[in-house]
Amino acid sequence: MPLSLAQMRRQYTHHGLQDDATMDDPLVMFRQWLQQARDTECAPVEANSMMLSTVDSDGRPHCRVLLLKGLSDEGFTFFGHYHSDKGQQLAANPFAAMTFFWPGLERQVRIEGRVSRLDPSLSDAYFDSRSIGSRLGAWASPQSRPLADRAALESLLADTIKRFVGQTVPRPEHWGGYCLHPDRMEFWQGRADRLHDRLDYRLVDGLWQRNRLAP
Ligand SMILES: Cc1cc2nc3c(=O)[nH]c(=O)nc-3n(C[C@H](O)[C@H](O)[C@H](O)COP(=O)(O)O)c2cc1C
Repeated sequence: MPLSLAQMRRQYTHHGLQDDATMDDPLVMFRQWLQQARDTECAPVEANSMMLSTVDSDGRPHCRVLLLKGLSDEGFTFFGHYHSDKGQQLAANPFAAMTFFWPGLERQVRIEGRVSRLDPSLSDAYFDSRSIGSRLGAWASPQSRPLADRAALESLLADTIKRFVGQTVPRPEHWGGYCLHPDRMEFWQGRADRLHDRLDYRLVDGLWQRNRLAP
C-alpha cells in the first residue's frame, strides 16, 4: 500500500480537560501526566508526529508537537493557523527545526531549514481532504488566542456550523500549509553503551554532504 502522509489521522477521544479540574501548579500537573504516561503500557505514537521548533522576534525558542502531512523534493509539509503563535514566529523568523522521535526503533531525526507558506492550491487540496468537523474547527478556533472557557469554543463552533449550513466549507485564508526546506538533517540510531550512530547531512551548494558525528 502506498504511504499517504496526508491520510494519516486519528480521532482523539480519551480525555478532556475541564476548566474546574485544571491545576494551578503546572509542575504538579506535569508530574501527574508523566506518571500516567509511564503507567500506560504502550502509549499511542503517531509515526508522523514531530516537534516543531520556531524562534520569535526576541530570539526566544518555542516548541510544540505537529503532524507531518506531506513530504516531497521541496521539503516537509505541515498545516496550522497562520495567525497562531507559530504562524507569527515563522513570519518574523522563517527558520525552524523539526524533531522526530521513534522510540520503538530507537531513532531520532532532526531537520532544519527555511520555512515558506505552501501554494494556496495545495493548502486547498489538503483542507478539502479533512473531515467536516476539522474543516469547521479551522474556522471556529482562533488558534493560540485566549478563550474564557470551553463553552466559548463550543459557542464559536455553533456559530460556524450555522454560518455554513448546507454549504461546502472552504479553506479559511488564515489556515494553511507550510513547507520546511531542509538544509540540515541528522539521523540518530541508538546503539549499545551510548555509542550511538549519528549521521549529519548538510546542503552545500545544492549537494548534501554527510559527516558522522560523535554521540
Ligand atoms: C499529536 C499532536 C498533533 C498535533 N498536530 C498539529 C498540527 O498538525 N497542526 C497544528 O497547528 N497543531 C497541531 N497540534 C497542536 C500543537 O501542538 C499546538 O498546540 C498548536 O499548533 C498551537 O501552537 P502555537 O500556539 O505555538 O502556534 C498537535 C498536537 C499534538 C499533541
